Amino acid sequence: MFEIISREIFSDSTKLIIVAAPDIARKAEAGQFVIVRISEEGERIPLTIADYDRDSGTITLVFQEVGKTTIHLGTLKAGEKLVSVTGPLGCASEIRNYGKVICVGGGVGIAPLFPIARELKAAGNYLISIIGARNKSLLFWEDRMRDISDEIIVCTDDGSYGQKGVVTIPLKEKLENGNGTIKRVWAIGPPIMMKYCAATTHEFDTPTVVSLNSIMVDGTGMCGACRIDIGGKTMFSCVDGPEFDGHEVDWNLVLSRQNIYLEEEKEAVGHYCGKKGCKGLGR
Ligand SMILES: Cc1cc2nc3c(=O)[nH]c(=O)nc-3n(C[C@H](O)[C@H](O)[C@H](O)COP(=O)(O)OP(=O)(O)OC[C@H]3O[C@@H](n4cnc5c(N)ncnc54)[C@H](O)[C@@H]3O)c2cc1C
Ligand code: FES
Repeated sequence: MFEIISREIFSDSTKLIIVAAPDIARKAEAGQFVIVRISEEGERIPLTIADYDRDSGTITLVFQEVGKTTIHLGTLKAGEKLVSVTGPLGCASEIRNYGKVICVGGGVGIAPLFPIARELKAAGNYLISIIGARNKSLLFWEDRMRDISDEIIVCTDDGSYGQKGVVTIPLKEKLENGNGTIKRVWAIGPPIMMKYCAATTHEFDTPTVVSLNSIMVDGTGMCGACRIDIGGKTMFSCVDGPEFDGHEVDWNLVLSRQNIYLEEEKEAVGHYCGKKGCKGLGR
């Protein structure tokens, strides 16, 4: 059993939990994830390790309530336990000194981006961070990102905070003004945001890493649920990723597979919220 040590509420739909998981904290690296099960009968959901503390033996998870299991997870408080936390899974990010890099985080994607950005800064890169959300209430960790960045741009779609507009606008400006000095871009957020970030950087031929949140079951490459197409080759997000070359991803397949279980997911939320009286989806 894995105890929840503390939790923080970022918004109606976004929460953070710190979980005691010493073996995972000891081995975790930026870019990796865990598969969480709340109860014996529960669904297995992948969540990125947003931070880890090897000394206290804890990992930090930040999640958005989008369906039955994440809504349920959001009800758990400090002292309650998760039946299983499996990991660290997936390949670690390729951290090197590239020179000047841009890290783009959208919505809940800011959480998985943070440890990668921190490691890139520690490796000596000049770090430009661009973080964005639909509105001010959905933004979090601006302070953490600011602390590690050489430059930071904050955007909201509705202009309620920072620069008005989507993250691809400052991304394009930075690439245009960078005259080829930007060596690599990381983009983590909703698939549609990653798709457009990759399209933007493609124009400038700037290598771009995205993190694919494919629907997963076993997380070990056995079930095939997280199948994706990278440069015409079938790959599995859980064992070959979750990070991939954004210019090689078949985004149409990623977007269509994301909604493959939509009807079942809606039914599960309806059933759960009917029984528990919760208010429904956070988005
Ligand atoms: C490697 C990896 C790391 C992830 N890290 C995080 C994280 O740090 N924080 C976080 O909030 N979420 C993360 N996700 C997404 C998270 O796993 C899903 O939101 C969760 O499984 C949804 O479960 P549910 O039962 O609450 O919702 P469901 O009822 O299963 O789904 C509800 C809605 O969410 C969408 N959805 C389902 N699975 C995913 C998915 N994998 N990605 C995006 N949308 C999905 C569905 O299309 C549907 O619209 C990650 C996914 C992967 C594969
Ligand atoms: S989750 Fe089963 S193959 Fe990736």
